[in-house]
Amino acid sequence: MADLTIKPSRGLTGVITPPGDKSISHRSVIFAAIAEGDTVINGFLTGEDTLNTAKAVQSLGTVVEGLGSSRLVVRGKGLDGLAEPSGVLDLGNSGTGMRLLAGLLAGQDFFSVLTGDQYLRKRPMARIVEPLRMMGAHIDGRSGGRLAPLAIRGGGRRTRAVEFAGPVASAQVKSALLLAGLYAEGETTVSEPAKSRDHTERMFRFFNVEVREQDTAVTLRGRQALRPNGPIEIPSDLSSAAFFMVAACIVPGSDLLIKNVGVNPTRTGIIDALQSMGADISLLNPREQAGEPVADIRVQYRKLRAAEIAGTMIPRAIDEIPVLSVAASYAEGTTIIRDASELRVKESDRIATMAAELKKLGATVKELRDGMEITGRDALDGAVCESHGDHRIAMSMAVAGLAARGETVVGDTEWVDTSFPGFERLLRQGGC
Ligand code: S3P
Repeated sequence: MADLTIKPSRGLTGVITPPGDKSISHRSVIFAAIAEGDTVINGFLTGEDTLNTAKAVQSLGTVVEGLGSSRLVVRGKGLDGLAEPSGVLDLGNSGTGMRLLAGLLAGQDFFSVLTGDQYLRKRPMARIVEPLRMMGAHIDGRSGGRLAPLAIRGGGRRTRAVEFAGPVASAQVKSALLLAGLYAEGETTVSEPAKSRDHTERMFRFFNVEVREQDTAVTLRGRQALRPNGPIEIPSDLSSAAFFMVAACIVPGSDLLIKNVGVNPTRTGIIDALQSMGADISLLNPREQAGEPVADIRVQYRKLRAAEIAGTMIPRAIDEIPVLSVAASYAEGTTIIRDASELRVKESDRIATMAAELKKLGATVKELRDGMEITGRDALDGAVCESHGDHRIAMSMAVAGLAARGETVVGDTEWVDTSFPGFERLLRQGGC
């Protein structure tokens, strides 16, 4: 039960490079496993979530060299080369790991079981189980397949292509169905109410697989071979950079440069939201790496004002809403966050947990069914907070503490390692 003690900061300065993008890391090792030949991955996130995915891929008979480091070499088995795992695949805390692998396994000609920790076993799985059953996989699980553990007997050669219009914008659902669709004859189309992150589409293209996109629909023809265009260079995770961006926005005296960050437009809602609140953020040295846009991000302190964050902005900022609610707590006026009910089924119910934790610091927060209403203050007061087993709640509260009066203690911060090993070290490096 690790505690993190945060003292008021006099400004975040210098240069930091957060660890690799979590979404891209999961995909890199899954795609490489079913590719032809070897794939080199640089910048792989060594967090627990992505390590669990890499271990699962090993349990499917794939050689992954360098596990535990940020440089992996994956010896691809080709589309039909994976083997039935002899044990249960444990994805720990990771919804992405479980849902993407469920899609991959739905297309295999063997049996497998996926489980996770107490938090993941509470998260909704019907959103993938129902469409994957339509594609020919036999899936069972607790509560009729609505909750993990999930037992999957894949459709193999009998996997069917589908046209699926999902009720929620979810890259995990989209990616699971496209991975299963890779094993079907014919074309699978997945459409969603708003565009979710497109790392899967980009990575398919990097592996020379054709995908077509029209508005919020993606179409993939099955049975295409994956061949990488070269090493995958994974940028720093914008979702991890976001904690430092908000910290620099709310602590006077800050001037921070965050290097090599992925700025995929389906993820940059955090930058747009902070800029609409008046933040001083500039993107420097824009470039492309392995099909993903990358830039360095400079953030200088400037007093924020309230904004409304809703609609198509939400899927583009979904993982950053907790830390955006911290920014709102220090902004002038009342910020309204709406259309974000998906937050209730993340690693924790992030509407309830953020509202509860911010109130401990004296923030004025009203919980809405699908968001929050937050009236900012010049300063909050340090307090003892907890993570609720959620890495992003732990880091958000650490950031809130940097601009508070007095000391803040965040309990249970070992969860931070699921996505951001070295968070505390980088805070210290930024002068905190
Ligand atoms: C992710 C998709 C998002 C996000 C998660 C990572 C991904 O979830 O919240 O942290 O890598 O595909 P949803 O697909 O549920 O929106």
